[in-house]
Amino acid sequence: MNILILGGGGREHALAWAIRQNPKCDRLIVAPGNPGIADVAECADLDILSRSDVCDFAQENAIDLVVIGPEAPLAAGVADALRAAGLLVFGPSQAAAQLEASKGFTKEICDACAAPTAAWARFSDASAARDYVTRLGAPIVVKADGLAAGKGVVVAETVGQAHEAIEMIFDGAFGDAGAEVVIEEFMEGEEASFFVLSDGVNCLPIGTAQDHKRVGEGDTGPNTGGMGAYSPAPVLSDAIQAQVMDQIIRPTVAEMAARGTPFQGVLYAGLMIQNGQARLVEYNVRFGDPECQVLMIRLGAQALDLIHACAEGRLNEVTVNWADDHALTVVMATQGYPGSYPKGSAIRGLDDLPEDSFQMVFHAGTTEKDGGIIATGGRVLAATGRGDSLAEARERAYALVEGIDWPEGFHRRDIGWRAL
Ligand code: AMP
Ligand code: GLY
Repeated sequence: MNILILGGGGREHALAWAIRQNPKCDRLIVAPGNPGIADVAECADLDILSRSDVCDFAQENAIDLVVIGPEAPLAAGVADALRAAGLLVFGPSQAAAQLEASKGFTKEICDACAAPTAAWARFSDASAARDYVTRLGAPIVVKADGLAAGKGVVVAETVGQAHEAIEMIFDGAFGDAGAEVVIEEFMEGEEASFFVLSDGVNCLPIGTAQDHKRVGEGDTGPNTGGMGAYSPAPVLSDAIQAQVMDQIIRPTVAEMAARGTPFQGVLYAGLMIQNGQARLVEYNVRFGDPECQVLMIRLGAQALDLIHACAEGRLNEVTVNWADDHALTVVMATQGYPGSYPKGSAIRGLDDLPEDSFQMVFHAGTTEKDGGIIATGGRVLAATGRGDSLAEARERAYALVEGIDWPEGFHRRDIGWRAL
C-alpha cells in the first residue's frame, strides 16, 4: 500500500513511525514531514491546505490511502476533495470537521443527542453576552466559536475577566473565528482524553490519555499545545469509558450520520470527570499532539490496520490488540515558548539514542542544517517511553531527555505526576 500522511509535527512522526512498521506499508510519503520523519518516510514539499495540489500529488504518486494529521486541512475540505477524486482517506469531511471547527456546532449536536456537557449559550453581540455572564456569575468559560489555535478559550475567575474576554474576542483577536462567542458553565473535575475511531457507523476506542497543558511544573503558567502526555489515563475507568461510549460518542456519531454528514476519522473527546461521571468539554477531529505519540508507541504496527479499516468503513471487522502497557512522552521546547522564542539553536546527541518499540524521540519543530539538527519550532521534540508500568515508561522517556544536548531547550520534569 502507498500511503501519504499530511502534516509535519510530532503527531505525524509518530503516525509515520507506527505505519512504517506494518508490512502492508510499501511507499510512505509525509508532506511536509520533518528530519525525524525522514528516517522512516519520504518527505515531500506540498501545500497541504490546497485541495487541488493534494489531489494531484496523491494521484501522481499512486497513493492508496491518505492520512490527514492536523485540523487545518480537514477544516479546509481536503478530505472531501480527495474522496471526490476517488481516493481513500482517513479523516472527516469539512462538514463533520465542524465538531472541532465550531464550538457552537458541537454544543448543538450534544443537545440534539442529549450528550452530557456544560450548559451553554451562543452570542453574536457583546452586550447580550455580557448580560448573560453578569446573570450567571463566575467562574465561567468564554470561547471564540471557531478555530483559534488553542488560544480561543478563557476560563474566567471573575465576571470582569469574562467581560474582557468577550471584548477581546469581538474586537477581532481571533479574526473570523471570533464572530460568535460561546459561553459555558465552568465544570469542575479531572480532565482526560478519549480517542475513538469512527467509520461513520461503527466506533472503536483506541486509547485514553492525559496531557499537561501548562508550561510550568506543578501545572502552572500559561497554556501550551501540551508539554507531555501519558496513556492510559487511570481516571478513565472501564465503567466511565462505557458511559462515554453510550452517552457521548455513539450518540454523536449517530446524530452526525442522521444529518447526512457522517463522521469518519478519529474523534478525540476532551472529558471532564467528576463523581465517576464524564461530561464532554470539546471534540477534536484529529489525533492530539503529543497524545498521538503515546497512543502510537502503544499501538505500533496495528495502527495502520485500524486506520485502513476506518477509512474503508469496516471497523466492525477489526479489534485492538491491547497490551497491558503504559507510555509517557516529555515535550522538549525552545526557551521562551509559548511566548516568542529564537530559532536555529543546535540539538546534539540525537544519533546516539536508542530507537525501538520502548524508546523513541519524535521530532516536531526541527530542521536539518549542515548535517545537524536545529530547533525551528516552539515544541521541538517528544521523548517517548513505553513500559510495563507508568513509572517504567517515565524512566525511559526521561533517559532519552538526559541524552539530548540542547542548552536552549527546556522541559517539565514532572510529566505524569498526577497518575504516579
Ligand atoms: P477547549 O479548547 O474547549 O478544550 O478548552 C481548553 C481548556 O479549557 C480545556 O482543556 C479545559 O481545561 C478548559 N475548559 C474548556 N471548557 C471548560 C468548561 N466548560 N469548564 C471547565 N473548563 C473548561
Ligand atoms: N494536545 C492537545 C491537542 O492536540 O489539541
